[in-house]
Amino acid sequence: MELNRFSLPVAAAIMMINASLLVQGCLEEERSALLQIKTSIFDPNQNHFGASQLLTWGNDALCCSWKGVSCDNITGRVNEIDLFNVRGWIFDPSKRDWSLDPSKGDWYLNATLFLPFQELKTLDLNLNAIAGCVANEGFERLSRLNKLESLDLGDNNFNNSVLSSLKGLSSLKYLYLWGNRLNGSIDTKDFDSLSKLEELHLSGNEIQNFVTSTGFERPGSLDKLEILDLGSNRINDSNLSSLKGLSSLQHLNLYNNQLKGSMDMKGSFQLPNHSLVNLSRLDISRNEIDNQIPTEIGSCFPRLVFLNLSRNHFGGSIPSSISNMSGLAVLDLSNNGLSGNIPEQLVEGSLSLRGLVLSNNRLKGQLLWKSFNLANLTNLILSGNQLTGILPDRLSNGSRLKALDVSLNNLTGKIPRWIGYMSSLKYLDISENNLSGSLPSNFCSSGTMADVYFSKNKLEGSLIEIFDGCQSLDRLDLSHNYFRGSIPESIGSSLQLSFLLLGYNNLEGNHRYQ
Ligand SMILES: *[C@@H]1O[C@H](CO)[C@@H](O)[C@H](O)[C@H]1NC(C)=O
Ligand SMILES: *[C@@H]1O[C@H](CO)[C@@H](O)[C@H](O)[C@H]1NC(C)=O
Ligand SMILES: *[C@@H]1O[C@H](CO)[C@@H](O)[C@H](O)[C@H]1NC(C)=O
Ligand SMILES: *[C@@H]1O[C@H](CO)[C@@H](O)[C@H](O)[C@H]1NC(C)=O
Ligand SMILES: *[C@@H]1O[C@H](CO)[C@@H](O)[C@H](O)[C@H]1NC(C)=O
Ligand SMILES: *[C@@H]1O[C@H](CO)[C@@H](O)[C@H](O)[C@H]1NC(C)=O
Ligand SMILES: *[C@@H]1O[C@H](CO)[C@@H](O)[C@H](O)[C@H]1NC(C)=O
Ligand SMILES: *[C@@H]1O[C@H](CO)[C@@H](O)[C@H](O)[C@H]1NC(C)=O
Ligand SMILES: *[C@@H]1O[C@H](CO)[C@@H](O)[C@H](O)[C@H]1NC(C)=O
Ligand SMILES: *[C@@H]1O[C@H](CO)[C@@H](O)[C@H](O)[C@H]1NC(C)=O
Ligand SMILES: *[C@@H]1O[C@H](CO)[C@@H](O)[C@H](O)[C@H]1NC(C)=O
Ligand SMILES: *[C@@H]1O[C@H](CO)[C@@H](O)[C@H](O)[C@H]1NC(C)=O
Repeated sequence: MELNRFSLPVAAAIMMINASLLVQGCLEEERSALLQIKTSIFDPNQNHFGASQLLTWGNDALCCSWKGVSCDNITGRVNEIDLFNVRGWIFDPSKRDWSLDPSKGDWYLNATLFLPFQELKTLDLNLNAIAGCVANEGFERLSRLNKLESLDLGDNNFNNSVLSSLKGLSSLKYLYLWGNRLNGSIDTKDFDSLSKLEELHLSGNEIQNFVTSTGFERPGSLDKLEILDLGSNRINDSNLSSLKGLSSLQHLNLYNNQLKGSMDMKGSFQLPNHSLVNLSRLDISRNEIDNQIPTEIGSCFPRLVFLNLSRNHFGGSIPSSISNMSGLAVLDLSNNGLSGNIPEQLVEGSLSLRGLVLSNNRLKGQLLWKSFNLANLTNLILSGNQLTGILPDRLSNGSRLKALDVSLNNLTGKIPRWIGYMSSLKYLDISENNLSGSLPSNFCSSGTMADVYFSKNKLEGSLIEIFDGCQSLDRLDLSHNYFRGSIPESIGSSLQLSFLLLGYNNLEGNHRYQ
């Protein structure tokens, strides 16, 4: 099970704010229904985080002020019930982690308990070890609750049979079923009647196939769906054309599945033609795809803002059509087998890029891009490739660059002086290259530099008088170079380093710095 929730103090704070803002009175019918829920769910022998909120229920008549309960400020009726972890997992402070109470297993919910709340909009039953509903008291009993928009059943033990019981909840917009026991094939027809659904969260189950073929025959099925999260399942169908019915889809998460690509066409990674043109976020990281990245990817997803294909086995070169995604802000192609150069179009044309992560591939060539328009770039991570040449001056245009990692390449030349004037740079890793020459005396002068890794190069010269302006420095690795002379006093006196490596140089002086 995954714990997809905010931290305890935040959750507690939100509940308190909600409670204090709301009208406090409440309908007698709803008050007694809440007390029935308390009796049914509360287990005095358990010590769950959310259970303590139930203790306050019934202390007074003002049920709208009970923790986890919110009411509409005009009608005064309950519109939100938050029962997050009232009998699920326990936070063990000694392990600083959550665990399921080993003495307590699955339990079964009586959904009819929620029927009196005619104005209910949000019901949160996350993290309660619920394995299903009591016979004839499932969610189908709640079809009269036509205001219900958000149902969180995440981090429970529901199996596929929960899906048919949700069919009557036609007003649902947000359905959370992550971290349950859904398995096998899930068909969009299971959600046919949920025509208003905008978000469907199914990550962390054991789903093997998400079938949307029926979407063609039944227009209307999930055609309002904007977010589909299928991450961390066992899906192996990498033909994205099969997601055709989902015309409003904006976010598609398929990370950590078993999508494959093979030389034969069967099961190869196939982009959907033009059916998902409005997709803004696509995450297929941590799968087993070994095709090339399709050359037409740019025209297939022209509106992508976030694309993560990392941790697959993609080979071949980076298609230049990626630069046709004019709104792309984050591109992560790291940990694949990509070769060739970094396409020039990528750094010339992708004006909105904020994060470019191409590390751990087999990319070659120099970084001598003719124009470098990445005005918004904050993270440039190119480590673990076979890049050659020098650190080009054009990089100094990156006034928003916070992290620059070109470690584990074959860069040559000197460390440029402009490094010290990059006004946003905090993280600089150029270790394990072939850089030579001395350190520029102003390399910290921007006053922002926090983590600097220069190890395993051929850097030389003295370290005296180069640490001016380095007060923000926290971690510094100069090891495995040819620095000589004495270790400057200022390293110990004026710097506040939490990490310093100076070993494997020709330095003299106090041994404790080595
Ligand atoms: C009532 O709630 C609505 C929506 O939650 C909010 O916009 C409005 O300001 C609230 N009115 C009062 C009087 O608190
Ligand atoms: C479920 O709750 C309803 C409403 O409180 C109640 O009438 C019914 O008897 C309960 N069912 C079971 C099996 O306990
Ligand atoms: C699925 O859960 C229901 C309870 O809601 C249970 O009756 C059924 O046996 C479960 N099915 C499987 C295959 O475990
Ligand atoms: C799904 O899980 C149930 C047990 O909950 C099991 O009986 C069934 O064989 C599984 N189905 C698939 C397709 O894995
Ligand atoms: C991918 O799926 C589409 C639609 O279901 C189908 O027409 C196409 O033949 C499939 N492609 C492959 C390579 O299986
Ligand atoms: C994409 O979005 C535009 C504008 O929001 C809309 O007109 C168009 O129908 C959408 N395309 C698809 C395939 O849904
Ligand atoms: C996906 O897995 C199923 C069940 O293990 C198997 O029958 C099917 O051939 C696999 N599909 C691909 C494309 O590998
Ligand atoms: C899908 O793409 C293929 C080749 O990329 C093209 O021949 C075909 O016409 C496209 N189909 C649709 C429905 O756009
Ligand atoms: C891309 O996905 C990988 C693996 O799921 C993850 O570690 C990485 O942080 C993601 N990249 C970005 C930029 O979010
Ligand atoms: C980008 O899009 C334009 C127009 O749609 C097209 O002519 C061009 O070939 C595309 N560029 C790449 C590199 O795919
Ligand atoms: C940089 O980002 C800002 C805000 O996100 C945006 O308004 C601006 O157009 C971007 N600049 C470029 C060159 O894309
Ligand atoms: C690195 O570059 C140097 C000189 O340019 C070359 O001799 C060496 O073979 C390169 N090393 C690798 C691992 O590519």
